[in-house]
This record gives sequence, C-alpha cells and structure tokens, in this order.
Amino acid sequence: MPATVIVGAQWGDEGKGKIVDLLAQSSDVVCRYQGGPNAGHTIVREGETFKLHHVPSGILYGGTICVVGAGCVIDPGLLVEELDELKARGIKTDGLRISGNAHVIMPWHVASDAASERRLGKLQIGTTRRGIGPAYSDKAARLGIRVQDILDPKILRQKFETALAEKNLLLDEPLEPGDLADRMETFAARLRPYVADTSLLVDQALREGRRVLLEGAQGTLLDLDHGTYPFVTSSNPVAGAAATGIGIGPTRIDSVLGVAKAYVTRVGEGPFPTEIEGPDQERIRELGEEYGTTTGRERRCGWLDLVALRFAVRVNGMTSLALTKLDVLSEFDEIPVCTAYRLPDGSETVEFPAHQSDFHHASPVYDTLPGWREPLDDGLPGAARDYVEFVGGALGLDVTMIGTGADRERVITPDQPAYSRS
Ligand code: GDP
Ligand code: IMO
Ligand code: MG
Repeated sequence: MPATVIVGAQWGDEGKGKIVDLLAQSSDVVCRYQGGPNAGHTIVREGETFKLHHVPSGILYGGTICVVGAGCVIDPGLLVEELDELKARGIKTDGLRISGNAHVIMPWHVASDAASERRLGKLQIGTTRRGIGPAYSDKAARLGIRVQDILDPKILRQKFETALAEKNLLLDEPLEPGDLADRMETFAARLRPYVADTSLLVDQALREGRRVLLEGAQGTLLDLDHGTYPFVTSSNPVAGAAATGIGIGPTRIDSVLGVAKAYVTRVGEGPFPTEIEGPDQERIRELGEEYGTTTGRERRCGWLDLVALRFAVRVNGMTSLALTKLDVLSEFDEIPVCTAYRLPDGSETVEFPAHQSDFHHASPVYDTLPGWREPLDDGLPGAARDYVEFVGGALGLDVTMIGTGADRERVITPDQPAYSRS
C-alpha cells in the first residue's frame, strides 16, 4: 500500500498539518523527513487547537506510529517540552520513534543563528532563530552531534570538549562541557525510549502493506537547492528528499500530494512577486489569521501565484493538490491570480525564472476571477468551484481536497455533494 509524500507547495504554512492530520486517520505511520522546530503546524480538532513543531502531525491519533527521520534536526529541550504538553492534554506519545541519525540543535547553534542575523542587518533572512542553519551546517561539515551521541555519555563528553573549544568563542556566556553534558543526559533519558532504527521500521511497514505518510515541513520555495536562495531554510522540503530523510529508496514513494493555500503567504525576508500592496494584504492577514505558528510574526500575504505553483508541481513530481483556506477569499468581489511573470526586458514567461535576478525583478501578470461573496459552510458556490477548477486546469493536476475552515472537518473533496452545490 502506498507511501504518500505531503509537501508544501509555497513558502510554508500552507496548512500541511491539518491535511496530514486528516489523512493520518487512515494511515499507520506518519514521518517527518526534514526540518526541525522552525516548523509550526496548527491542527484544530473539535475547536481545540494543537501546535506541533517537532512531532509529526499524526500524533493526535493514539495508534499511529510517528517517525522523526534522520533528515531532521532536533532541539531536545523543545521536543521534551512538546511531548509534555501533549501528554498534559491527554495525547498519547508512545507511538513516537526518533532516528538516532537525526542531528541535535545545540545552544551554540541557536546563538549563532541569532548572531548571524544581527550581523547581516538589512540583509538578514528573517530566520526563526531556532538554530536550524548552524545545525545543518555542522552536519554538512561533519562536526554535528547526533541523537545517538547524546545517548552515550562518554562519546557526548568527548564531542562537547572538542566542539566547545571552538563554539565557546561564539557564546556570550561560555558553556562548560560537563554542565552541558549533564543537561543533555537529562534530555537523553527522556528521549531514549523513543530512539529506533526508523529506516528499518518504515521499510518493514511498507513491506507489510501499511500506509505511510511522509510529511514535509516548510515548503518548496524554502528548499535549500530549489527555493529562493538565500532566503530559504537549510534543508530540502521537496518530495525527493523524503526518501533520503527517512532512509528508503525513491522507488518506494507512490504519490505526492502538494498543499497550497488559495493565496500565498511568506514569513521572513525575500522576494515575493504577488505580495499585495494596499489594504487587501491586511484584510487577508486578518481573515486568514496569518501570524506565524512558531514566531508569532505577521505573515506577508499575496495573491495565488500559478507560475511558482507550476514550478512546485514540477520539482516535487506532484500527483494531486490540496487547496487550503479557500474560505478566506469569500470576502472578495474579484480575485487576482498570477498566471505569468513580466521580466525586466518586457518579455512574459510562465516558467519560474532560473536566475535570482530575474525572479527578484519579476512582476506578476494577473487574470481576475470573480469572487463568490458567501461563506463556504454549505459547500462551494459556482464561482468558488470555478476558482478551484481554474487552478487545477492551469496546473494540469487534480485538486483533490479543498479547505474551507481551520477545523479538521472543514475539507471538501470533489466526490462530495458539497463540491457541486448549486
Ligand atoms: P503548516 O505549517 O503548513 O502546517 O501550516 P500552519 O499550521 O503554520 O498554518 C496554517 C493555518 O491555517 C493554521 O492556523 C491552520 O489552522 C489554518 N488552516 C488550515 N486549513 C485551513 C482552511 O482551509 N481554512 C482556514 N480558514 N484555516 C485553515
Ligand atoms: P512550516 O513547516 C514558514 C522561513 C523563515 C525564514 C526562512 C529560514 O510551519 O511550514 P530557518 O529558521 O528555517 O533557518 O528560516 O524560512 N521558515 C518558515 N516559513 N513556515 C515554516 O515552517 C518555516 N520554517 C522556516 O521564516 O524566512
Ligand atoms: Mg507552519
């Protein structure tokens, strides 16, 4: 039975958490394959809100195995806090499995993230300051500390002595290897029961015909290799990375569900061609409650960008699309949708520019679609359905789920009567 990747098709916060939670109902294993506590996934279940950062969005169902794969970076203090919060709210966490190969975010990573943003000044990325970039840098430089290292006090102390000789130069208050090792051992004791060979676990689940969801954090345009570099995260959210991040072969993946908002948001700095100028930006932010789950920052808001979305379909090999937050557009008389970019030389293109200066200077060419000006509570009015079909048609992709509200239940599929209301 299938392994499905669920991937953000824009700049993150597309509503992946809600879609994964919904699909997790009928899945056995849900895996996070990259990223760390920079992710913030909000799930609303019968009016109760859960905010997840590290833990896969399948955790709300008791029997689901939830894997944090080797491609992830983990802040042990934040993970323990998240687990405590879930337990305090009656959510069972014994289905969690953590790869021993995942890397650990250390205090110097967090300090260095903040310091490099300060140093960059106006050129800063606007990171979540969770230490993501520095942790992945150390991993690539082969200086990283992995989950399996914090389980072994001897190795941990050796690693800390080597690391801190250099890293203490960065810190306002230098760390003492013994103190830090003691602190880590407390976290290690809490996390030890969850550590497992997650590559083997997922392989076995697939062999036994179980249903596996591979959940991306962030989004395609934040991808380190394919996104709007340098205004990106330091891992690969794209679907192909699900295989490396978990430790299964690419041939094991059967389908790729992209998740996109019916408009676009972006947190942090960087180019954003369809960003709205004027009061509609604020209107969308208020209607969509567009404030970061992790940092509380205002999200920048723009109209749907089909050029960028077509690019996301390509680099992820998407097989279907979930279009979320369509309800937020119910207040508008007309809805612009970007179908092409105009480049500085006056030419128009429907392809995502391969060079950053073209993208930075691209201006959107809009088609304007009629709004529907009524709530979606009882289903999709004709103009809302036309909007969905315009998007699907432009991408050559089936839109298989449509989000009409934050709650878990608020999703319409094309086979439901609510899809073809009136
Ligand atoms: P993620 O990072 O992709 O999981 O997305 P976030 O959770 O950061 O942001 C999406 C926000 O939109 C959350 O507050 C969700 O509760 C909310 N949301 C998801 N789907 C819908 C929808 O269809 N309509 C509305 N109004 N809100 C939604
Ligand atoms: P989810 O999983 C939206 C953005 C940051 C910044 C850039 C780099 O909730 O969709 P980082 O801390 O990763 O080094 O920051 O990436 N960013 C996100 N934006 N949603 C996220 O995650 C994000 N994770 C990182 O705002 O611009
Ligand atoms: Mg988010």
